[in-house]
Amino acid sequence: MATVRLEHITQYADRWQAGKAPSEAVPIVQDISFTVPDGEFWVLVGPSGCGKSTLLRTIAGLMPISQGQLYIGERLVNQVPARQRDVAMVFQNYALYPHMSVAENLGFGLKMRQVPAAERQPQVAAIAQALGLEHLMARKPSQLSGGQQQRVALGRALARQPQAFLLDEPLSNLDAQLRDETRTELKQLHQQFGITTLYVTHDQVEAMTLADQIVVLDAGQIQQIGAPQAVYAKPANRMVAAFLGNPPMNLLSAVFDGDAFQLGTQSLACLPEQRSELAAGQPVWLGIRPEQVSIAQAPKPSEVLPSSPSARLSAQVGTIEPLGRETLVKVKVSGLSDWINLIVLPAQTPCPDEALTLLFPLSDLFIFDAETGQRCFSPTRSDRHTS
Ligand SMILES: Nc1ncnc2c1ncn2[C@@H]1O[C@H](COP(=O)(O)OP(=O)(O)OP(=O)(O)O)[C@@H](O)[C@H]1O
Ligand SMILES: [Mg+2]
Repeated sequence: MATVRLEHITQYADRWQAGKAPSEAVPIVQDISFTVPDGEFWVLVGPSGCGKSTLLRTIAGLMPISQGQLYIGERLVNQVPARQRDVAMVFQNYALYPHMSVAENLGFGLKMRQVPAAERQPQVAAIAQALGLEHLMARKPSQLSGGQQQRVALGRALARQPQAFLLDEPLSNLDAQLRDETRTELKQLHQQFGITTLYVTHDQVEAMTLADQIVVLDAGQIQQIGAPQAVYAKPANRMVAAFLGNPPMNLLSAVFDGDAFQLGTQSLACLPEQRSELAAGQPVWLGIRPEQVSIAQAPKPSEVLPSSPSARLSAQVGTIEPLGRETLVKVKVSGLSDWINLIVLPAQTPCPDEALTLLFPLSDLFIFDAETGQRCFSPTRSDRHTS
């Protein structure tokens, strides 16, 4: 096992590299630096086309490095060919050897490294046991389900006991239930074998549940690196805020007028600690997590109102999506084109087209600059769980 260290890696597409000097070309990924410590599980996450597979292929040695340095352990591996890097990669479209049994597939990497059969056998058996494949050892890949094939692909890579494990969306071909199960297995396998892992996904649930640290990428650049809960609680910018969370953070376009936020025809009070971070006339995005939004009820005479100041917005119900335990309601804020997602208990589900008042604590608001997208303010409450 080893650390994986990227220093200022920039990659240009092959066809541009051939024709033009790198300075003229548009990079696929740009100035990427991070170190995955020995034995940790890191997840690269970001929307389709942001450069995740490019980075993984770069580490695996399947793409020459345009700029920057790559270290596996203490060794600079820029010029080291893929097969000598001692990393194992599992692709989304895993290719098992169709003419080999499960046992032969699992042991293939060891056989190639000329490990004697007597040594191979117990190693393969241990991997098969960890992955629950013992009863399938004699079968050919065509006689396995998709999930079983995926487990063989993972097992084949694990059996080599590589310095680092690179996984590119390995669960995306599985149905939802199998994906959940295999995700749990992956986490257990990592705990058992402790191999340094870099895992690529565009599924933020996988990122949140598996990672020691996540690296959020967008348009070939790192947006934020941190522990999943810390990134969720304090997203560095609007992109990260909108990407992590299911349903994602609600974002409302507003202008700070020096005193309050103006949202079309409605206005929201601004807390003193928020005001000190803003300039009069500044266009912003206000962010609020769906779980923080509720529907205002008429207060009962004896009821004590919440001590923290709450914001009220009038809105109209759009679509209603029952999810079993809870219901996702999409409402349109009056006078704005913005929609807000909120989660309510099934018994509190409003009617379609109903006019209602949304309520959320002002202290739970995130504020992002509209031009740069950078966070200007995050709720102090989230600081207590992170930093
Ligand atoms: N050889 C190439 N020539 C030109 N463009 C390329 C080349 N390889 C990748 N790209 C472009 O680089 C960008 C990043 O591609 P990459 O496959 O790394 O994205 P990704 O984050 O893995 O996306 P996905 O989630 O869809 O798999 C894409 O816009 C892709 O079209
Ligand atoms: Mg990809």
